[in-house]
Formats: sequence, structure tokens, C-alpha cells
Amino acid sequence: MKTNQLGRTDITVTEYCLGTMTFGSQTDEATAHAQIDRARDAGINFMDAAEMYPVNPVKKETIGLTEQILGNWFAKTGRRNEWIVATKHSGEGLAAVRDGAPITSDTIPGAVESSLKRLQADHIDLYQFHWPNRGSFMFRKNWRYDPTASSYSRADVIQDIEDCLGALTREVERGTIRAFGLSNDSAWGTMQWLREADRVGGPRVATIQNEYSLLCRMADTDLAELMHYEDVGLLPFSPLAAGLLSGKYQDGAVPEGSRMAINGDLGGRKTERAFAAVDAYLALAREFDIDPVHMALAFTVQRPFVASSIFGATTLEQLDRALGAIDLRLSEELLERIDAVHKQHPMPY
Ligand SMILES: NC(=O)c1ccc[n+]([C@@H]2O[C@H](COP(=O)([O-])OP(=O)(O)OC[C@H]3O[C@@H](n4cnc5c(N)ncnc54)[C@H](OP(=O)(O)O)[C@@H]3O)[C@@H](O)[C@H]2O)c1
Repeated sequence: MKTNQLGRTDITVTEYCLGTMTFGSQTDEATAHAQIDRARDAGINFMDAAEMYPVNPVKKETIGLTEQILGNWFAKTGRRNEWIVATKHSGEGLAAVRDGAPITSDTIPGAVESSLKRLQADHIDLYQFHWPNRGSFMFRKNWRYDPTASSYSRADVIQDIEDCLGALTREVERGTIRAFGLSNDSAWGTMQWLREADRVGGPRVATIQNEYSLLCRMADTDLAELMHYEDVGLLPFSPLAAGLLSGKYQDGAVPEGSRMAINGDLGGRKTERAFAAVDAYLALAREFDIDPVHMALAFTVQRPFVASSIFGATTLEQLDRALGAIDLRLSEELLERIDAVHKQHPMPY
């Protein structure tokens, strides 16, 4: 499988990354461990977790369970060294973690320590901030985005970055984290982190983990340019648009046990226009005789700025199907047709 370097670090990851956010909720520990085995056997070396996982729903009593499940696999197999492990510090406003406290130089050491304990590991390869303290326009907030509503002034943001870079530097020096990444952030935000790291020192942003798929292409313009010139890799999350691109929700279907059956509107992704766009992509996949799941996954890894695409599988069957996309490359002809569908169905949510 093709591998990519994370930013300017010496960390190399496979172009597919196993998402873990259902480990401990929809996916029980035995199935999660079987998924880790199978993904590794297929060549994948990268897993993405977060201190707040599992999700759907996020509950105070299950915070950390996903990391624990990973940790149990590492302890059981002794194979921590075969994986590049990413996890995340939760951001401001999530009541279930630190009562919604923002990310600060004070919270970082404790959060890292707790993740390491649950992971039964001595280091985290990629430590990410789940969303910025100042707020973000991700998760459908782009439709009414108003940066003036943030309680953080420019000076606050820069001070915050400087302080956190100091705390992250101490973690790098202690050997607890190897690289640093952002999530749910913007081109402007990422640039501030890069500039401050140059100015005051500290780990340079290596990756940005934002939603990206055939249905969510906000990273294609300003962020794409930044990622190219600054050597920051995109880690697309929800490359299957949370399951929509499999086609299983078309014509009003809501399969039992599916994410839509659990959380209703797929976090705001269930829109009329999304179903129309999915119809068009399904027709294209049929015409080119390709599995729509494979088309959606391969599309993300073929984008020039992508380091590794973080897909999810609730079941082993879904994982097997996703693994079928490994090494697949979409033809130029199909990519042009995808462009045409994208123009007809821009930003469906
Ligand atoms: N940074 C962030 O804020 C953020 C946010 C979200 C996710 N993430 C990361 O990205 C990872 C992937 O996110 P995601 O799960 O939303 O990605 P995704 O790949 O778009 O969706 C995966 C989900 O789609 C459904 N699915 C997958 N294969 C299928 C198939 N063959 N047929 C039918 N349904 C299928 C399953 O859900 P059901 O079976 O339950 O319907 C599965 O859990 C997460 O685990 C996490 O690591 C990060």
C-alpha cells in the first residue's frame, strides 16, 4: 500500500487509516480487536482515536473506552510498535470531558498522561487538538459562520497557541508525543500555528484532520493551497460521508443499527441534496463497474494533499469491503466525471 510522510516529520503512514470512534459503542471489543488484526494484515499501519471516543453518543461514562480497547490489543499482542497511533485532546465545550474546559498548557500534560495510560503505551505518534478553542465552522456550522461571535480575540488566539506550543514542546522532550496535528481547523488557524512554531519554537503542525469526501470538499481551495506550500497533510475523516456514500440510505431506507438509526440526521448530513448527489455518484459507479464504497475511498487518497484517509467500519464485513479499495486508482476519465457530478451537486450539506 502507498505510504505518505506526515508533514515534515519522519513518520510514515499508509494512505488508509483505521478509524476507531465506534470501538466501545456500536463495535464491541472482540470485533474491534478483530478489525485491528485484519487491518494490520491488510497492510494498514495507522489508527486514529480520541480521548472522548466512543461516539454516538458521547457519554461521560464511556469517555476513554476506545483508547482502552486499543490499549488492551497492544497489551494482549505486544504489537504497539506495528502501529502509528493518533489520538486527540478534546476541545472547549464538551461537557463530558473536563467539564468543557478549553485546551490549555495546563490541560495538555494530564490529557496526554491519561491517553497513554488507557493506550498502555509510552508514546502517542500523532497528538491532535480535536477542534480549536476559538470555535470552528466545521460540522455544518459553515452555513451561519460568524467569527466575530468568538469570545477569543486575535491576541487571545496567538497567546493560546504560544502557551500550547510550550506544553507540546515539553511533551515532545519527554518523548510522550512525536508529532502534532490539528482537527476541524481552517487555513487561517493552521497558518497561525505554523508561524508561531517558527517564531517561538515547538512542534510544527504536521496534519489537519478535517471532514473530506465526495460530499464534503471544503478543503479543496484555501486549505489545499496551504497544505501544499506548507507541507501539511490532510487526514480526511468520514470519507464515506458517515455511510451515505454506500447508498444504503437511498429512497428513505434507514437500516436497523445503522448510524442514522442511532443519531437521526447523521450530524446534519441527511439532506435532500445529499441523496440527490449520492444518486449521481451511485450511477457513476455503476457505469464504471466499480463498488461505490471503493470509488469514494479511492477518490480521497488520490487527492494530492491527502496523507491518509480515515475510514470507519462498524462491522468486519464493512471493513473487508473497505479493504477492497486498497491500491485501487480511479481513471482520469472517472475523475473527470466525478468533477462533473461535483459541479452539479456542490456542498450538499
Ligand atoms: N476529527 C473529527 O472531528 C472526527 C469526526 C468524525 C470522525 N473522525 C474519525 O474518522 C473516523 C471515520 O469516521 P466515520 O466513521 O464517520 O467514516 P466513514 O468511513 O465516512 O463512515 C463509516 C461508517 O459508514 C458505515 N459504513 C461503512 N462501510 C459501509 C458499508 N460497506 N456499507 C454500509 N455502511 C457502511 C458504517 O456505519 P453504520 O454501520 O453504523 O451505519 C461505518 O461506521 C472515525 O472513526 C474517527 O477516527 C474524526
